Amino acid sequence: MSEIYNPNPEFAKDAAIPSMDAYWALQNKAIEDYDGFWKGFADEKIEWLAPYDKVLDESDAPFYKWFTNGKLNVSNQCIDRHLDTKADQNAIIFEGDKGDVEHITYGQLSTRVNKMANLLKNEFGVKKGDRVVLYMPMIPEAAYAMLACTRLGAIHSIVFGGFSSEALKDRIEDAEAKIVITADGAFRKGKPYMLKNVVDDALAQGGKSIEAVLVVKRNNEEITWVEGRDHSYNEMIDAQSDVCPFEPMDSEDPLFLLYTSGSTGKPKGVQHSTAGYILWAQMTMEWVFDLRKDDVFWCTADIGWITGHTYIIYGPLAAGTTTVMFEGVPTYPDAGRAWKMVQDHNITQFYTAPTAIRLLHKTGEDEPKKYDLSKLRVLGTVGEPIDPPAWKWYYEVVGNSKCAIVDTYWQTETGGHMISPLPGATPIKPACATFALPGIIAEIIEEDGTPTPVGEKGFMCITRPWPSMIRNIWGDPERFKKAYFGDCKKDEKPVYFTGDGAMIDEDGYITITGRTDDVINVSGHRIGTAEIEAAIKNVDSIAVSAVVGKPHEIKGEGIFAYIVLKVEGSHSTDEMKSEINAVLKKEIGAIALCDAISIVPDVPKTRSGKIMRRILRSIVKGEEITQDTSTLEDPSIVGIIEKIVKEA
Ligand code: WTA
Repeated sequence: MSEIYNPNPEFAKDAAIPSMDAYWALQNKAIEDYDGFWKGFADEKIEWLAPYDKVLDESDAPFYKWFTNGKLNVSNQCIDRHLDTKADQNAIIFEGDKGDVEHITYGQLSTRVNKMANLLKNEFGVKKGDRVVLYMPMIPEAAYAMLACTRLGAIHSIVFGGFSSEALKDRIEDAEAKIVITADGAFRKGKPYMLKNVVDDALAQGGKSIEAVLVVKRNNEEITWVEGRDHSYNEMIDAQSDVCPFEPMDSEDPLFLLYTSGSTGKPKGVQHSTAGYILWAQMTMEWVFDLRKDDVFWCTADIGWITGHTYIIYGPLAAGTTTVMFEGVPTYPDAGRAWKMVQDHNITQFYTAPTAIRLLHKTGEDEPKKYDLSKLRVLGTVGEPIDPPAWKWYYEVVGNSKCAIVDTYWQTETGGHMISPLPGATPIKPACATFALPGIIAEIIEEDGTPTPVGEKGFMCITRPWPSMIRNIWGDPERFKKAYFGDCKKDEKPVYFTGDGAMIDEDGYITITGRTDDVINVSGHRIGTAEIEAAIKNVDSIAVSAVVGKPHEIKGEGIFAYIVLKVEGSHSTDEMKSEINAVLKKEIGAIALCDAISIVPDVPKTRSGKIMRRILRSIVKGEEITQDTSTLEDPSIVGIIEKIVKEA
């Protein structure tokens, strides 16, 4: 049995959910009266502009509708409704790469978001339902732009700044966006980097729906300018009025799109709703991070990922707390940067990815001890399983053995946390996501819906709809149904498959064991192997490629490609690797580069031609091959590949 870390009693006494009894009281209420459970929170947390008439409409499952016909506005929920009591409280603390700091109060946030909304509306005609692409660095204007979209009812689609022009163009085209908001660039590790040129390249290749590009100045580097299309935020913003009435939105109006990888080559535009999303963002913020008055919350994600959406912007602001936004990287100028920020801004909750913890541990084991981290109460992790050594260092050295660690399991599609400890309630087992949050009905099952026995790996599923769940894949409802719901039904109702494996132990604790599909997790970033293989097809000399994840000390997983050349012996491994990476950089972005490749004479295939990836995964991990290889077209290939990989 693993060690148990009980909540600190001093802390638990005032916690939002102060005990396992309190947890079970909430969870049992949800099980007994699901609609009543959600109604209670929706009425308490959301400022409704018009009441809803039904909590949950399942008539068109899995196209669920929550809080039907209710009206609200997310920028009101995050800003306006706080102004009576919090106008002078910091909403955002921004720290730039070079250490420049800006405090933005709720009052100032209101002014800037209203002006930005007026700019979008008056100068570019942005209105309810329009799609707005953001290709932005981590600067406050990115937050203003997100909130300005929600104020107008426009649907934002943020594209992570590490994606290439090709990837940006594809996302612009899929969403048929009207405008791109970007910046000249920003700073990283003391140096400027550029974004605007990537937008220029994307629009040179396509993206015909784009009418305008709005450019924020950040690093003041020289950029090219397309007259008539490009517009300067800095020159236009002052003239805008700071009053822009917010649009009353329907509960089910789309709030934003966020593209994520799946098991085919084409990324999915995950579509979130207005009411359900903001409700769960706020509730999980309050429960999982145990928010209290005067807290300062820092999530180190980028706004280009769901973690940045929900836990840098929407969750913290809906809950009325102070959120930290950081432009740089936590190891620059040295491995103490993150801890210095925690000290300087009196940070009370710190939320990051295991890959960052491993990096900070490796580059500065004792760094945290040099800073005053005594305000920290809750430490969080997200994005991938955390390994016990990293967990222990986080707990003992960063948290000084007094902070709860919340290992939060969730996805772009779930909108907010699904499975996580509650810091004042849950006795924690290291590196274990523990229990489903109150209101979330999670089960580990086999493909046919039967429960997986204790201690065995099964599919992590959510068997009841929840408010912040994905509503659709933009423009592709059939793919939405197929990708997440399969054929499995429970009590005649569709079951949501996360694509992850999990295990439950004899105490009911859930441990996530990793993806069960062809998605790999590089530094907490989700990348589809099919997407990488589709890009590699652009290399002429390659006949076949098969991409798998390879365990990596810092990144969790790295990308490994098996390559079959059209002409055997035509290229060396080094030549191929650099050619492949050049293509991946162009087609997807620097986050998708291969760590290593192996040139092999063939890949293991069934007689019907299907590549047996499980064998390839086992080989790269150095595992013994346990699968039956007798059904392969050429069983001898397995030994040959094993030998090549071992000797590389
Ligand atoms: C993985 C990030 C283990 C999982 C919020 C999931 C995790 C994918 C955890 C979603 C965790 C996320 N433990 N694995 N605590 N959190 N994952 O969409 O494989 O970028 O399906 O959302 O990350 O990644 P996404």
